[in-house]
Amino acid sequence: MDVGAAVVEHAHAKLNLFLEVLGRRDDGYHELETVMHEIDLADRLTVAPADRGATLTCDDASLSCDDDNLVLRAVHALENRLHRELPCRIHLEKRVPMGAGLGGGSSDAAATLRALKRLHELELADEELEDVAATFGSDTAFFVRGGTQLCRGRGEILTPLPHREDLRFVLVLPALHMATATVFAALRLTVEKRDGYAFKRSFARGAAPAELRRHAFNRLEEPARATEHVIDALLRRLARENARLSGSGSTVYALCDDDAHAHALAERIARDGGPATLVARSAPRRRDA
Ligand code: C5P
Repeated sequence: MDVGAAVVEHAHAKLNLFLEVLGRRDDGYHELETVMHEIDLADRLTVAPADRGATLTCDDASLSCDDDNLVLRAVHALENRLHRELPCRIHLEKRVPMGAGLGGGSSDAAATLRALKRLHELELADEELEDVAATFGSDTAFFVRGGTQLCRGRGEILTPLPHREDLRFVLVLPALHMATATVFAALRLTVEKRDGYAFKRSFARGAAPAELRRHAFNRLEEPARATEHVIDALLRRLARENARLSGSGSTVYALCDDDAHAHALAERIARDGGPATLVARSAPRRRDA
């Protein structure tokens, strides 16, 4: 089998711009309606050919590189699907904070699938990669496609929205790892649901950030606030900015009007002795999208 030179893939982080929980499912998961949006903050994966086996190294010593890492789980899931070995040496440069609701681990897994497809020149449709990705995470399929997607089901049923490259964000990163399962467990389901239509429509027609902020929503904020006082305090402090939680946290983000607004807000948070911040923007549109 011909295998070329090493390939590089960027594994972008995401923000949930809208998230409603529609109900609890028989399989223990929750039925979601969420808009996920890729941002320019990204890990970098280099996947090189190897004679046999799959190995992973990482520049962040706190990350376990054994078989329970999502990157190696992605390799093995694709090998099982194709009934063949996909030897490779993978190096991961970690930039996306972990346990932060930014999807870093899932994005690494999806980037691994994309890289293996290129490295081994696999004849595989994106839908097949998404199908494999969905076997080991609820938001992994999103990262195979990227851009902006409306995600339903557990998060794996995707409908594309026209991706926007113009949005600016301040990410506020409390030093907290939130366990998604714990936040979902603390959720009290309500009868009344927030309809995502207004957000989707505003987003798709290129509405200004102020309008998007009015329609943005995350049902998981309430259980996350109840679980972690720090999140509650942060969302209160940034209420004027209409800040939202991403996923189940711990990242709180503000959708800003422009670069100047984003930098001024980040400086204000630093001056006030707040948590670490990152100024981010929408990810560029994927070349193949
Ligand atoms: O699929 P993933 O590993 O990301 O999910 C982590 C946990 O989050 C699940 O075990 C489940 O408790 C919760 N979850 C959920 N409903 C979803 C996605 C995740 O209840 N749609």
